[in-house]
Amino acid sequence: MITVLVNGREQAFEPAADASLAYMLREEAGLIGVRVSCGEGECGACTVLVDERPVTSCLMLAHQAAGRKVTTIEGFGSPENLHPIQQAFIEEQGFQCGFCTPGFIIAAAAFLEENPSPTEEETSIAMSGNICRCGAYPYIVRAVMTAAERLRGASV
Ligand code: FES
Ligand code: FES
Repeated sequence: MITVLVNGREQAFEPAADASLAYMLREEAGLIGVRVSCGEGECGACTVLVDERPVTSCLMLAHQAAGRKVTTIEGFGSPENLHPIQQAFIEEQGFQCGFCTPGFIIAAAAFLEENPSPTEEETSIAMSGNICRCGAYPYIVRAVMTAAERLRGASV
């Protein structure tokens, strides 16, 4: 048995020895905002924060999360009170089907934490670890730039 602080709530899990963190979050915690696509660490769809750092949860063993803090998209904002990055993705239409969106938003949050005033080029490079099969990249970059402005408290 392991305990993990998931989206601010301590939870107990009994994952199989070879279960991934993504599997545990989706199947045991019901957090289906954690998307699994490639399952090989290539697409970023399953990105979550572990102790505030972005991690491809399909590659991390569930047991490695024991005693740590995990944040999924369900831990960002709420329908009534969206996180500024979520709001920016909606306003800038930074998605089409939305499958990749949770991973992009979490990757963006980690990126903007490190670089609150990025250039567009820096943002493009930072987002290049995530794949959008709908090709919404220009809108995604615009959304992250808008979110950066909001988070800096600038008016847009
Ligand atoms: S599903 Fe984890 S990186 Fe693609
Ligand atoms: S919006 Fe469809 S995969 Fe990115």
